[in-house]
Amino acid sequence: LRQRKPIIAIDGPAGVGKSTVTRLVALELGLTYLDTGAMYRALTWLVLQKGIPLDDEGAIAELVSDLHLELIPSVFPEQPMTIKINGEDVTEAIRTPEVTKNVSVISAQRYVRQGMLSQQHQYGKIGGIIVEGRDIGTKVFPDAELKIFLTASVQERAKRRSKDLIAQGQTNIELLQLEQDIGRRDYLDSHRAISPLLKAPDAIAIDTDGLTIHQVTEKIVQLYRERISTD
Ligand code: DC
Repeated sequence: LRQRKPIIAIDGPAGVGKSTVTRLVALELGLTYLDTGAMYRALTWLVLQKGIPLDDEGAIAELVSDLHLELIPSVFPEQPMTIKINGEDVTEAIRTPEVTKNVSVISAQRYVRQGMLSQQHQYGKIGGIIVEGRDIGTKVFPDAELKIFLTASVQERAKRRSKDLIAQGQTNIELLQLEQDIGRRDYLDSHRAISPLLKAPDAIAIDTDGLTIHQVTEKIVQLYRERISTD
């Protein structure tokens, strides 16, 4: 007898297409979508906004202990969820280069991870969710019914990100700079002491180089249907 509905864990490095794929799979399978990166980004935004030094782990821990994070799914499931922190809508503010640059430092801190972990477990109680991040299959939901680890070369990920940025109206994008930023974040995320980015031994790796978003989505949907009985 299953206590909760199934959970899908989607892990992988920055810019691999996790968010889009996760949203599309959620839509197709009727699952709730949880973006854990957005939680770390929202906290980073708050730290920057309050002017707290990034290495002041004590002050940041205090902030985490009294944090009100809201993740509100969009009525249109293909759109990102609304993220609020202490009542303020930061859905767009958490995607700025400033937040992106600093999030790895904040998300490496012990009390930050503890705080986020307990919130993520709350979301997972009922199940029926697809969760994306770095440590979902290894640490957050090690008992997830399906674990996927997405990979792509740094060059491919930088190309995809530049397309996204152009679509958002940005100009003057330096591909080499994007590659360096992604490489740096990969390094920090996979070398931190607590819950580093890592493929769980029982995760299925999908190399997305040369695959479209829809091909990746279909692979995951198919794996879910093969492996998880929904009755
Ligand atoms: O997926 P993203 O780019 O929005 O994630 C932002 C950062 O948050 C990422 O650089 C590392 C951190 N993160 C994490 O440490 N653990 C997670 N489960 C998700 C994200």
